[in-house]
This record gives sequence, structure tokens and C-alpha cells, in this order.
Amino acid sequence: MSAPPRNALVIGGTKGIGRAVARRLALDGHHVTCVYRRDEAAREQCARELGEAGLSVAFEQVDATEPAEVLALFSRLAHAEREPDLLVNAAGLTRDAPLAFLSVADFDAVLASNLKATFLVCQQAVKPMVRRRFGRIINFSSPAALLGNEGQAAYAAAKAGVLGLTKTLAREVARYGITVNAVSPGLVRTELTAHLPEQKVEELLRKTPLRRAGTPEEVAGMVRMLCDEAASYLTGQCLSIDGGLS
Ligand SMILES: NC(=O)c1ccc[n+]([C@@H]2O[C@H](COP(=O)([O-])OP(=O)(O)OC[C@H]3O[C@@H](n4cnc5c(N)ncnc54)[C@H](OP(=O)(O)O)[C@@H]3O)[C@@H](O)[C@H]2O)c1
Repeated sequence: MSAPPRNALVIGGTKGIGRAVARRLALDGHHVTCVYRRDEAAREQCARELGEAGLSVAFEQVDATEPAEVLALFSRLAHAEREPDLLVNAAGLTRDAPLAFLSVADFDAVLASNLKATFLVCQQAVKPMVRRRFGRIINFSSPAALLGNEGQAAYAAAKAGVLGLTKTLAREVARYGITVNAVSPGLVRTELTAHLPEQKVEELLRKTPLRRAGTPEEVAGMVRMLCDEAASYLTGQCLSIDGGLS
């Protein structure tokens, strides 16, 4: 697999899956910019880890749920000639509670981080991609989008929204050489899933034919595949990487 060096933007690139994606794309020679929201310690750790591997990426602190901040980010990227050819929307947030007890604030926060941020960033990213007649967009969904998951009504709804957004945008921009796909990982042990009770994890793994959690690196490998030149006829799809769960 190979691709010429491109500008890559990884939203949520300082932790978990996004960090593994940033590392994978940087190893492939792409010019990577990682966006994070506020965790400076994670940014420093990410920079240190990548530095030890001889890799250098740029960092941007942006709340991707805020339209003005996203607009300002893209103006800085344009100025630095780093507008993305490869965009990975890996920000995410969960606030779990049974629907009957889910607060409106938590519902809004989950929809914003998982769906609105994906919309805002895609909206800015496609403009330079259209001009260049090339682009690869990879959004993050979840098995919860189609299966549902107790305690995750907001998250499942947001991730189902990501599927609709992905399929629609894929149709809108296909003629410009831009592909838009989603990945749907099963359980990956990151900060996002650290709060899950061990009993819930065991239950999930029992339902997973491969009987283990996935790794950020395995998901990053799939993102890399979608960025590759060889994936040029693949668009509007959601690829599951969930150990057989779905
Ligand atoms: N882990 C899993 O099992 C799993 C399964 C299915 C789908 N997914 C999806 O995969 C993606 C990555 O998940 P993960 O487990 O790697 O998450 P994670 O470890 O919690 O990392 C989330 C990253 O997103 C950033 N972020 C969150 N909200 C943001 C915002 N509003 N603006 C900018 N950056 C923001 C965080 O930055 P700060 O830390 O600075 O806030 C952090 O870098 C998410 O979309 C998630 O829903 C994960």
C-alpha cells in the first residue's frame, strides 16, 4: 500500500484511536495536523511519543463543535498550506445513562462532539478538496448506530447520524474525486471506554466472535487503507472493524 505524501488532518488526534491514526499516517510520510480540544498533557505525551519515533506532527487546539473555531482552524491551515487532502474525524464523547434519565445537556454534548463536529469539519474540508479534485474523508461511527446499546441513546443516535452524513456527502462530492467513508470499531480500550464497568466489557467481549478488544493500531490500519490510492472506488461505505460483533 502506498500514497504520495499528503496533508492529513486528524480531529481527536492526541488520544486513543486518533493518536494511532496520526502515527500511522505520519509513518507513511504524510504531513499530519492533530486537533485536540483541551487536554494539554495528552498533547505533550503524543508529541513525545511521536518524537521518539522520529515523527513530527503539528497540533491545533480547537473545539470542533464551535463553528467559529473550525473556521479559524481552516484559515490557519490555508495560510500554512496544510489544508487537508486526508481528513479523519475521530473526536468523540460519551455520556451514558438510560434514556429516561439522560439530561438534555448530556444529549446535546454527545450530539455535538460526535455529529455536529463531523459536519462542521467536513463542511470546511470539502471546499479545498473540491478545488484540488482529490480528498479522502473518514468519519467514525459505532456498532451502536445500528445495534443500539443500553445507556447510549444519544451516542447511538449521533453515530447513526454520522452514517447518514457520510453517505450523503459521499454522493455530493464523488464527482470531484473525493471519497467519504465511515469506520465502525468494536470495543477499543481508550479513555472513551475506560469508564465502562468490567462486567459490561466482559458481556461485550462474549458477544464478539474474536473474543477480545481491538487495538487503536488495528483501526488505524483500516483508516490507512481508506486513505490509500487503491481505495479510490470505495465511497459512501461504513466498514466495521469489530471482531465480528456486527
Ligand atoms: N474506543 C472505542 O471503543 C470506540 C468504538 C467505536 C467508535 N469509537 C469512536 O472512535 C473515535 C475515537 O475514539 P477514542 O476511543 O479514540 O476516543 P478518546 O481516546 O476519548 O479520544 C478522543 C479525542 O477527541 C478529542 N475531542 C473530543 N471532543 C473534541 C472536540 N469537541 N473538539 C476537538 N477534539 C475533540 C479529544 O481531545 P481532548 O482530550 O483534548 O478533549 C481526544 O483527542 C470516536 O469518534 C469514538 O466515538 C470508539
